Amino acid sequence: MQVLFAASECAPFVKTGGLADVIGALPKALASQGIEVRVLLPAYAALRPLLAAGRELARPVLRPGGGVRLVAAQAEGLALILLDAPALFERRGTPYLGSDGRDWPDNHLRFAALAAAAAALAQGAAGDWRPEILHAHDWQAALAPAYLHFAGGRDVGTVTTIHNIAFQGVFPATRIAELGLPRSEYRMQGYEYHGAVSFLKAGLVWSDRITTVSPTYARELMTPEFGLGLEGVLSERRGRLVGILNGVDLETWDPTHDPALARTYTARNSARRHANRTAVEARFGIATEEGAPLFCVISRLTRQKGLDLLLEALPRLLDRGAALAVLGSGDRDLEEGFEAAAATHPGRVGVRIGYDEPLSHLLQGGADCILVPSRFEPCGLTQLYGLRYGCLPLVARTGGLADSVIDANTAALASGVATGFQFAPVTAQALGDAIERACDAFSETDVWHRMMRRAMRHPVGWEDSAAAYARLYRELAAARTR
Ligand code: ADP
Ligand code: GLC
Repeated sequence: MQVLFAASECAPFVKTGGLADVIGALPKALASQGIEVRVLLPAYAALRPLLAAGRELARPVLRPGGGVRLVAAQAEGLALILLDAPALFERRGTPYLGSDGRDWPDNHLRFAALAAAAAALAQGAAGDWRPEILHAHDWQAALAPAYLHFAGGRDVGTVTTIHNIAFQGVFPATRIAELGLPRSEYRMQGYEYHGAVSFLKAGLVWSDRITTVSPTYARELMTPEFGLGLEGVLSERRGRLVGILNGVDLETWDPTHDPALARTYTARNSARRHANRTAVEARFGIATEEGAPLFCVISRLTRQKGLDLLLEALPRLLDRGAALAVLGSGDRDLEEGFEAAAATHPGRVGVRIGYDEPLSHLLQGGADCILVPSRFEPCGLTQLYGLRYGCLPLVARTGGLADSVIDANTAALASGVATGFQFAPVTAQALGDAIERACDAFSETDVWHRMMRRAMRHPVGWEDSAAAYARLYRELAAARTR
């Protein structure tokens, strides 16, 4: 079965967050389910070398987007289709922001062109290759099912996945004509959202199925607190909505073979992690007191991630003799907050502002506990990497964090199933309490090591979730041919 993914990021080529990890890993897992995925990606400047080595599939004229090239390329075990539109994508900056840190002013056109290219491929623009399913990821691709619907392409099944509803792709209604959307559908049951155009809403309205990245987030999305204005549409379409937990690329994230580690290890000889802990301490210029854990954070520094609560709870962590290594970048006030904490507590709090993939691996392999105090978290991947690396996750009880970590409560400890720590409500007080619980557990070496072994054996691969996507695609395809 042939499936087209449309997305704005894909690891290892272009990544700002977990979306890229998913788009880079899920197609490989689907291959073992007999599903062949091609990933449609914008040809950003960083992808030019792939373009040069690729094979031209078609030169469609898109609306919006104009004359573009679609180029097939094979790299890192993925079949890519690159959208070559230099005027839109060949720029310096991130996929979304210019070097001044602001959204590109034509983001509506850039990602509408991505969606239009996906819809064109679904209608056979690449000649002999045509997908049976078009799967759009996040708002950047979410107009694709809508364009396909308006073009009458009913024989291809459509899926939209919500990786994070906080990003909806909302643009002024004055853009409707440029976007080539039918004005008649600018209404509450269509793509209208509080007097503007919502790309994500269009995807939710015109897709056959909606998925999100954990079962708990699927439920949360239907509430005003988490649905951020789209809870109504989602509740109406609840029969079409399903949460499928993300997995981990077990090759990229493998402590037995990870080149970024000072020393590789397995669940059985995890004492070898010590060399990584020493390396982390050296890199960050920090150390813990004897018997206290080394905590880490690897994150975008934004309100979503709840790290302002960690700044508040920090005195309790330090009182226990623990240390903290932070790797992240994002909101200026949080960056400054952590930098100030490092300046106030030298030797105990270390901070790297920036993005550093190898360092993120070393932290997972060397720290004892990764902190993820998110206010909301559709799935979250760093806690899954933490499980796999025996860096026990301490997480807020929300979204995919709630679905992937088993809290070390008395019952779970007694039956040996605990893999980390959860806290609720998401407050500095509850976070501080959980940090203290983690410190207590760490001081009982046997307890900690049992949890570590359990965590490292917890299945975090893609197998089950890939099977769930495969079932969903097959159901959709069967419904089309009936
Ligand atoms: P989100 O997509 O909301 O940012 P996820 O937990 O799903 O959250 O994915 C984040 C991904 O980005 C993980 O692969 C994580 O390791 C990585 N990451 C986040 N910040 C950094 C950083 N500063 N340096 C390296 N990797 C980072
Ligand atoms: C989003 C979410 C994150 C999720 C990722 C991949 O970035 O914030 O929770 O893991 O998408 O689905």
